Amino acid sequence: MKYKAVIFDLDGVICSTDEYHYLAWKSLADRLDIPFDREEYSHLLGVSRLESLELILKKSSRTFTEAEKATLAEEKNAQYRRLLDQMSPADLSEEVRDTLNRLRRAGLKLAIGSSSQNTPFILERIGLSHFFDAVADGNCITHSKPDPEVFLKAAEMIRLQPGECLVVEDARAGVTAAIRGGFDCAVMGDAREDERATWHLNTFSELLGCFSELITT
Ligand code: BG6
Ligand code: MG
Repeated sequence: MKYKAVIFDLDGVICSTDEYHYLAWKSLADRLDIPFDREEYSHLLGVSRLESLELILKKSSRTFTEAEKATLAEEKNAQYRRLLDQMSPADLSEEVRDTLNRLRRAGLKLAIGSSSQNTPFILERIGLSHFFDAVADGNCITHSKPDPEVFLKAAEMIRLQPGECLVVEDARAGVTAAIRGGFDCAVMGDAREDERATWHLNTFSELLGCFSELITT
């Protein structure tokens, strides 16, 4: 079997936090009178907080100092954290929980590769703080997706080569990051039709089909 590990994106793959990101950005954009909708949010998937803010502020008629940008990013994050506070282990779907457990039982290493600095908090809210073999996130990288750094870091933490790991992504920026890093990629959600991917998933549990040599479904 080619793959010895799976590296998962978090937002939009393991849990549905993207709606909360959207609502928090929307509330900031409305306050600043900047047009922002779900289509525009789809371009921010996988992109870091500050880079997302820059993209939103481009549509404003005024300019912002670096200090103002830092305050705005903090405002968005505070709103996002208030929404995350409502999350609990019930927000981890049975499908995701069951699929993760089956992959683990098949002997695969399981890791997270996320741009989010809120990764530890989210994993704690959904009861997965101690589940993964490695967590590489927005707190331990200098370049966000589409740079491959976060996935390379995750592979290094589990002591495997990129060619031995399958990345699971829902964002085009994440698919670019995986491919640049030398990883195969399985895509779902927003990125599910990305032709650069090796595997196309309609549902999270279809991931088990990538490991049919190890797992009988
Ligand atoms: C990614 C999300 O996972 O994390 C992006 O897809 C988000 O929308 C990015 O901007 C950074 O998240 P955070 O939690 O550090 O603001
Ligand atoms: Mg994502």
